Amino acid sequence: MLKDEILELKKKLNVSIVAHFYQRNEVFEIADIVGDSLELAKKAKDDKSEFLIFCGVGFMGESVKILAPNKQVLMPKIACCSMAKMIDAKYYDDSIEFLIKNGIQKDDILPITYINSSADVKAKVGEMGGMVCTSSNAKVIIENAIKSNKKILFIPDKCLGQNIANMMGLKSSIIGDGSDPKKSDIICYDGFCSVHQLFSVEDIKFYRKKYPNILIISHPECTPEVVRESDFVGSTSQIIRYINSLDINQKIAVATEYNLVNRLRDKNTFVLSSSKPECPTMNETTLEDVYTVLKSIEDNKPINEIFVDKNTTKWAKLSLERMFEVC
Ligand code: 13P
Ligand code: SF4
Repeated sequence: MLKDEILELKKKLNVSIVAHFYQRNEVFEIADIVGDSLELAKKAKDDKSEFLIFCGVGFMGESVKILAPNKQVLMPKIACCSMAKMIDAKYYDDSIEFLIKNGIQKDDILPITYINSSADVKAKVGEMGGMVCTSSNAKVIIENAIKSNKKILFIPDKCLGQNIANMMGLKSSIIGDGSDPKKSDIICYDGFCSVHQLFSVEDIKFYRKKYPNILIISHPECTPEVVRESDFVGSTSQIIRYINSLDINQKIAVATEYNLVNRLRDKNTFVLSSSKPECPTMNETTLEDVYTVLKSIEDNKPINEIFVDKNTTKWAKLSLERMFEVC
């Protein structure tokens, strides 16, 4: 069986397999390190193996390579998060230009990028004195950043930016919404996660009507309308911890990725959507892909290795390390 061959190769080689919670079950089961994006960045950079086989999306493998440049990071599928693709270095510069044209001085802008962004964008943010956040620590990072009295440019996820602003009672806007950015504390780039847009207030109403005591649980990449109507909002790991603390008889409807929700518990658990909210790119990685990468290491011809150039690494690393300094 393919799984057994993978386990054999794993024993033989100096490798660790890393998998995000959204990976297919068969891939998730053979991983040595699992977690949400913050946990993976922390655990993978401190891992002692020579090769990291990263099952996730591009920005995750890239972040580990930036934090631990001497490690060989290989991705069975170099799959891209569609949200991370919504902003590149040019769109970043255009966003800064937009704020300057609207009367905000460059020195008064503090950029914060969600970890779901490319190394180039993280480097731009690092060069401007900004930092990275993840869905686990976005609130703490913004609470800290707001003390600088600067305008926060939050990229690329407008939903996460708006949701944190709402939680903290701050004013937010979106580039291009026609409002005056000077009047906002947090100005969000117009990016979003296509998977987390699949949940709606109508779905929440449906479940609340059907099961009056149900708890609605959502990821902060969901729209502000869905988040406002939820009983609990948290990153992937925060959602798992919360659900594990509940009585198994408590009915829950969860607004996040399908593979994760399906794995959570075997009863009283619903995916808050009439569709199947799978992340298409997270789902691209198969056991066959993992096997092919392991074989390439065994043959001394590693494939799908992640490389980040020195200058990009320098600034992107700074933006990631500033996050670790705060939390
Ligand atoms: P987490 O930080 O919760 O792992 O989220 C990453 C992600 O891509 C969610 O869509
Ligand atoms: Fe990106 Fe959304 Fe997939 Fe997360 S679920 S990796 S944000 S596309």
